[in-house]
Amino acid sequence: MAKAKTDDRGSTLKKIAALFPEARRIRDAGLRRKVLECWAEGCEANGWKPEELKTIPFTLLAGDIDITYLEHVRTVTQMCIACCDIMVKAYGKRVTHKLDRDILIAGSLLADVGKLYEYEKRDGKIVKSKAGDYLRHPFSGVGLAWKHGVPDAAMHIIAGHSKEGEMMTRTAEAIIVNHCDFIDFDIVKYKPKK
Ligand SMILES: [Fe+2]
Repeated sequence: MAKAKTDDRGSTLKKIAALFPEARRIRDAGLRRKVLECWAEGCEANGWKPEELKTIPFTLLAGDIDITYLEHVRTVTQMCIACCDIMVKAYGKRVTHKLDRDILIAGSLLADVGKLYEYEKRDGKIVKSKAGDYLRHPFSGVGLAWKHGVPDAAMHIIAGHSKEGEMMTRTAEAIIVNHCDFIDFDIVKYKPKK
């Protein structure tokens, strides 16, 4: 029984790793594993198949959108990596001590993992869950990350990537994730004037 569970987790982890190639850019193998474990447990605990991340809308706050949860998480993470690399290339040592690339990637990949708890499938539709009524995804995401030993600096990004972070003094990595997340969100919901 215990072996079957381990095999299931192993297979979920493989699928998650294939869905999030950006995780390979985390140099610290332990941190990379924790990120993938969070996604695997979030899927299993809430009855999501990893492949469903390709079909869930990334937000329920922007009407009918055609951008998926997986696309949003990956795009924001790629934007964050690009911002970090451009700044490091431009400013070198004047900025490198402020930016931890591994933490940035881990935090960005996990910023929305709590939506696995915040959303649920009801009658074939994706809707807000009861858990989501109580806790938005920054909170459930931190809970999940805490369980898996994700470093405080990355949990800070999860906690502060959205409007909840307005009460916090964000780290440099959290500033990048917050801005990239809102660039993506605002442009996805933007409707050009005709
Ligand atoms: Fe979010």
